[in-house]
Amino acid sequence: MRRLAVIGTGYVGLVTGSCFADIGNQVICCDIDETKIQKLTQGIIPIYEPGLQEMVIRNQQEGRLQFTTNLAEAVQFAEIIYIAVGTPMSPHGEADLSYIYAAAKSIAESMQEYKIIVIKSTVPVGTGRSVQQLISEHTTHPFDMVSNPEFLREGSAIADCMKMERAVIGATHPSAADVIEELHAPFRTLVYRTSVESAEMIKYAANAFLATKISFINEIANLCEETGANVSEVSTGIGLDSRIGSQFLQAGIGYGGSCFPKDTEALRFICSKSGVSSRLINAVIETNAKQRYVVLNKLQHVLGHLQGKTIAVLGLAFKPNTDDMRYAPSVDLIPELVQRGAAIKAYDPIAIDEARKWIPSDILYTTDLYEAVEGCDACLILTDWEQVKSMDLERLHSLMRQAVVVDGRNCFSLEEMKAHGFYYSSIGRAVVHSQLEVGIG
Ligand SMILES: NC(=O)c1ccc[n+]([C@@H]2O[C@H](COP(=O)([O-])OP(=O)(O)OC[C@H]3O[C@@H](n4cnc5c(N)ncnc54)[C@H](O)[C@@H]3O)[C@@H](O)[C@H]2O)c1
Repeated sequence: MRRLAVIGTGYVGLVTGSCFADIGNQVICCDIDETKIQKLTQGIIPIYEPGLQEMVIRNQQEGRLQFTTNLAEAVQFAEIIYIAVGTPMSPHGEADLSYIYAAAKSIAESMQEYKIIVIKSTVPVGTGRSVQQLISEHTTHPFDMVSNPEFLREGSAIADCMKMERAVIGATHPSAADVIEELHAPFRTLVYRTSVESAEMIKYAANAFLATKISFINEIANLCEETGANVSEVSTGIGLDSRIGSQFLQAGIGYGGSCFPKDTEALRFICSKSGVSSRLINAVIETNAKQRYVVLNKLQHVLGHLQGKTIAVLGLAFKPNTDDMRYAPSVDLIPELVQRGAAIKAYDPIAIDEARKWIPSDILYTTDLYEAVEGCDACLILTDWEQVKSMDLERLHSLMRQAVVVDGRNCFSLEEMKAHGFYYSSIGRAVVHSQLEVGIG
C-alpha cells in the first residue's frame, strides 16, 4: 500500500486516482477547480465515464480516496505524486505546458521530504527534464522524476486502467522505477522500462500511429466510393493480416476528442522545432480535417440544398460512452449546417449539457432519439452510440418526412437499410437507393 497524490482530477486523474485506490492504495486527488472538488466530495462525478461513479463512491466510503483543493496537504501526505493536469493545444499547435509547470512549482514549494514525481499527462520530449530542473530550483528536498504516460480511452477508461495492456515507465533513477513498477503489480500488466525521453515519445508516437491508421482507412474509403469497392470489406480484409491488425481501421468522419487532434499537432510542432520532416503527420492531420465534412456533401447531394430542411443529428460526443465534446465533429458540422439554412434537432444520450457549451447555434436538443427524427428531412449520424446502432429502423422510417440517412460512422449494413427502404449514404460504401423520391430541393 502506498500513499499517492494525483494532481488534476479530469478524465485521466480521476480514473487513475480511483483505480490506484481500488487496488488498495491511499489516494488524495487534488484539483484547482473548487466546484469539481466540492461535487466529488459529495460523490457527484463531473464527467461521464461508465463505472466511475460506483468506483469513486466505493473507495471514498472505504476510506481510500479523498478529494482536496489543498495541493500542499496532498503533496505532504503522499510518497508518490502523479501530475495529470491538462496539456491542451496552444494556438500554434504546440502542447501548452503552463498547467504542468504551475503544478510542478506548487509541488516543489510544498515538499518537505523525498518524493517520487510522476508525469502522467501527455508531454513533449524533454518536459520531464525541464520539470526536474524547475522543481530543483524551488526545493532543497530530494526527488526523482518518472514519466508514466497514460493510454486509457474515454468510454472504457476503468477497464483500460484495471486491465492495462502495458505500463511504460521512464525514470531518472532505477529505484523510482522499481517503486512505480511495484505500484502496478496488482494490475498484472506488462511493464516496459525506458528512459524518460523515450517514455514521453512513446505516447506521442502511439497516438500518431493510431491517428495514421484512421486517416489511412478514410483515404481508402474515399477511393472505394469512386471505384465501387466496399471499405467495410476492405478493412476486414486487411485487418485479418496480423501485421496490420483490425483495430482503428473503421472508416468514418475521422478522429476527434481530447487527444488525437492535439497530440498529432503537438508532434508536428516538435518535428518543426527539431528540424525534422513531418510529411506523414501533416498528411494525417490534413486528411482528418477534411474527412468530417464529407457528410455535408453527401447531405447536400441528396437534398439539393439545405435551406429550410430539418436535419436530425444523431450523436454529439466525439465518440460513444463519453460526454467529451473536445474536437467533436458535431462542433464543426452543426454550425455549418445552420449557416446553410438547416434546422437542427440534435440527439445525444449523455453529452447535451456539455454540447451546449461548445455549439453556439440555437438548435433543439433532445435525449429522445425518436423525437429528434420525427418530421425530419434527413438523419445525420455523427456518433455510433449503441442507442443509434440499435434503433428501430421501421419506426425511424415511419417518423421521418423523407427516409434519408447519411451515416458518418457506418452503423448499418447496406442490406438492412435497403430492406427498410432508406436512401442510405455512408462512408466508403455504395449509396443505397430506395424507391423514395429524394433530391427534391
Ligand atoms: N482524456 C484522455 O482520454 C486522455 C488519455 C490519455 C492521456 N491523456 C492526457 O492526460 C492529461 C490530462 O487529460 P484530461 O483529459 O484528464 O484533462 P482534463 O482537462 O479533463 O483535466 C485536467 C484537470 O487538471 C486540473 N488542473 C489544472 N491545473 C491544475 C493545478 N495546477 N493543480 C491541480 N489541478 C489542476 C484542471 O482543473 C482539470 O480538472 C493530458 O495531458 C492528456 O493529453 C488524456
